[in-house]
Amino acid sequence: MVAKRGVQQASVRGRRVLVRVDFNVPQLPNGQVADDRRIREALPTLDHLRTAGARTILMSHLGRPGGRRDPQLTLRPIARQLSGMLGQPVPMATDCVGIEAIQQTARLSNGQVLLLENLRFHSGEEANDPAFAAQLAQLGEVFVEEAFGSVHRAHASTVGVPKLLPSYAGLLVQREIEELSPLRTQPQRPYVALIGGAKVADKLPLLASFLGRADTLLIGGALAHPFLAYRGAPIGGEALTPGLQKALGEFDRRAEETGTRILLPIDLKVEIEREGKTEVEIVPVPELPLGAIGQDIGPATIAQFIEAMQGSKTVFWNGPLGRTEDARFVAGTKAVLDGLRSIPGHHIGAGGDSARAVRELGVSDAFAFLSTGGGAALEYVQGVDLPGLSVLPDA
Ligand code: ADP
Ligand code: 3PG
Ligand code: MG
Repeated sequence: MVAKRGVQQASVRGRRVLVRVDFNVPQLPNGQVADDRRIREALPTLDHLRTAGARTILMSHLGRPGGRRDPQLTLRPIARQLSGMLGQPVPMATDCVGIEAIQQTARLSNGQVLLLENLRFHSGEEANDPAFAAQLAQLGEVFVEEAFGSVHRAHASTVGVPKLLPSYAGLLVQREIEELSPLRTQPQRPYVALIGGAKVADKLPLLASFLGRADTLLIGGALAHPFLAYRGAPIGGEALTPGLQKALGEFDRRAEETGTRILLPIDLKVEIEREGKTEVEIVPVPELPLGAIGQDIGPATIAQFIEAMQGSKTVFWNGPLGRTEDARFVAGTKAVLDGLRSIPGHHIGAGGDSARAVRELGVSDAFAFLSTGGGAALEYVQGVDLPGLSVLPDA
């Protein structure tokens, strides 16, 4: 494990400390925070900074507004939530760069906390534009990386800024590295990876890195759809582009070479229109109506997945196995995680939406550790070098 120089070592009294947090939290349709775990997990660092007399400036992204201001994706509800959690007002800057942000950060007194508006309202963030990074860096004197969930992104706030300021890892980032390192270096085998969720384009290439590392790979959620379509199931949704065809063919060849066992859903819960009414039915995969979209895994898949985890020493889980925001489609994720509770071994969960599901389903005791990172944790346990960590000085 490569430990990073920690925020405990930084001298922060009276200084403006720019902290990258990952407040990309699941939201309710009205914008309210649906699960505050990513905020809660940043509190020890924020408390440390406050007690040490720092002037704290928080920056985060929320969603994927694509470089444009989107009122749906303002961080305002998060500032409100954080104020309550910290027990002190957390004012917002209406933008993350520019004159107003400069003035607001300059006016902070020791122990105060300010939240900047969504970084991704500017295209310079995701493009890692040096001029945008310089504008952000100008707001602080010290940088703290506390956004473990975003360290796999080479963006201005995660890579550009730490190149310009003395940089430290926050307490959460340090703990994530410590907890996930055994899986990265030497997972105890048999090792089962259970992967679901929706970020298909992001996660598909990463799944291939489990081949040879894990003994069994269980694939559910929307992520299973391209695999099922490739194997000839009449599934709708994500189109099987020639690029995807090729990648999945390569995936199968590698799976065979490495001997990694791959299990896909064998039955799915789908919505079916009948006489103007929408009904939910469980259908075996070969009998899916043409173009159907699976919204959850069915009971036969649940049984198969639980069976496959029996006898394992390590289980890594990321991504809900169904559309768990809808009560009709939580059963698959709930049953599989319930099953995991009675299986001994080292179980690690990961992901913003996954953590929300764990809390709502009351199955947190299934896991020794729940990472705040989704894609970041997935990449970290595969041994990938994460740009937002590489850029930080070692301890
Ligand atoms: P995490 O945040 O834990 O890394 P993702 O962001 O990849 O997970 O995926 C979470 C999302 O995946 C949830 O919003 C859930 O509704 C969605 N999802 C899971 N299975 C399906 C499915 N079969 N169809 C549509 N969406 C799904
Ligand atoms: C996440 O939720 O995984 C992180 O906040 C990163 O979000 P992104 O996938 O939109 O970069
Ligand atoms: Mg997510």
